[in-house]
Amino acid sequence: MPRPGSRWAVVAGRWGCRLLALLLLVPGPGGASEITFELPDNAKQCFYEDIAQGTKCTLEFQVITGGHYDVDCRLEDPDGKVLYKEMKKQYDSFTFTASKNGTYKFCFSNEFSTFTHKTVYFDFQVGEDPPLFPSENRVSALTQVNKKIKNFRLL
Ligand SMILES: *[C@@H]1O[C@H](CO)[C@@H](O)[C@H](O)[C@H]1NC(C)=O
Repeated sequence: MPRPGSRWAVVAGRWGCRLLALLLLVPGPGGASEITFELPDNAKQCFYEDIAQGTKCTLEFQVITGGHYDVDCRLEDPDGKVLYKEMKKQYDSFTFTASKNGTYKFCFSNEFSTFTHKTVYFDFQVGEDPPLFPSENRVSALTQVNKKIKNFRLL
C-alpha cells in the first residue's frame, strides 16, 4: 500500500500497489517483492522465493549507496544450479522462466569489497505483471524507479 503523500506513492501505485520497505519483504498482488536492505562489509544476504514451474520471473537490482556502488549477485534454482551470476554490478536485470517447482534462491554479496557497507534495492517479479499502461514497457517503468532512487538518495 503506498503511503499517502509520499513520493513513493507514485511509483508504488504505478507498480501495482507495491510498497518499498526497509528490511521488510512485502509480496504484492502481482507476485512481486521489492526491498531495500543494508549489506555490511564482507556480508552476504540471501532471499528465497517459491516459484511454480513455467513462471516467468524478473530480478532487477540496483546499489543505491556505498563504495563503488557495486555488488555481486547470484541466482540459483531449487537444485542449486546457478542461473545467473554477476560480479560487481551497479545495476542489472535478469529474466528467466522457472524450469521446475521449488524454492529459488538469490543472494547479494559484498564479500569481495573492501569498501563501506551498501544499500541495495531489488524488485523480484514472479509471473506477468498486468501493465497499468499497456503502451509502456518495463524500461520506462524502471526509469521511474531510478528517478525515485535518486530522490531517495537525497533523504
Ligand atoms: C508444480 O506445481 C503445480 C501447482 O503448484 C502442480 O500443478 C504441478 O503438477 C507441479 N509440477 C511438478 C513437476 O511437480
